[in-house]
Amino acid sequence: MTRLVLLGPPGAGKGTQAARLAETLQVPAISTGDIFRANVREGTELGVTAKRYMDAGEYVPDSVTNAMVADRLSQPDAARGFLLDGYPRTAEQVVELDRVLAAQDAALDRVVEITADTDEVVTRILKRSAEQGRSDDTEDVVRRRLELYTEQTAPLSATYEQRGLLVRVDGMGAVDDVTARLLDAIGVPA
Ligand code: AP5
Repeated sequence: MTRLVLLGPPGAGKGTQAARLAETLQVPAISTGDIFRANVREGTELGVTAKRYMDAGEYVPDSVTNAMVADRLSQPDAARGFLLDGYPRTAEQVVELDRVLAAQDAALDRVVEITADTDEVVTRILKRSAEQGRSDDTEDVVRRRLELYTEQTAPLSATYEQRGLLVRVDGMGAVDDVTARLLDAIGVPA
């Protein structure tokens, strides 16, 4: 049973690494960003709401995000464990995740913060922007996403550190090297 949270700034490699770890650990990678983007593509009501915030680099309101994650974590595949990528991002989301897990008589095993230099994450995101054209990967919006991360999400590391759950992993360098460091940090043989 593995219940993990991946923290880290935009472009740190959360999504890339979550997919790899999920395969090794055989648990679903749950990315709030991906769920929002799927809803945007499908034109759902949630997607219409989320797009307004995402395109401005703002966080989707906690009430919307929390309800979506609570629903996703109640699905059968998450009972075996999960890897949360991009949630929680606010203090209120931490409280909600605690509530959802307590109701399932469950708890997090580890919170992994992937660290990376700001110059490097901006370079990665602008490269992705040129290749894929993600609508929130423009320079202005990336600046706002980084700002919001510093203000609202970076402080969550201290919260989880106080609980003895936090490990920090260097996200710089080759993708394979970062994966190996992550597996080592969570005690899984590579
Ligand atoms: P989300 O999609 O989660 O965006 P993000 O956190 O800004 O993260 P990114 O996807 O940009 O980066 P990542 O760390 O996942 O790195 P990745 O592996 O993709 O969220 C988007 C929006 O949704 C938010 O801004 C917000 O509006 C909303 N939202 C989401 N969750 C929310 C929440 N909980 N509450 C409220 N709102 C929420 O890699 C980035 C690039 O770098 C890729 O091109 C990748 O190929 C490349 N790369 C990865 N690793 C390496 C490496 N080691 N070397 C070189 N390149 C690399």
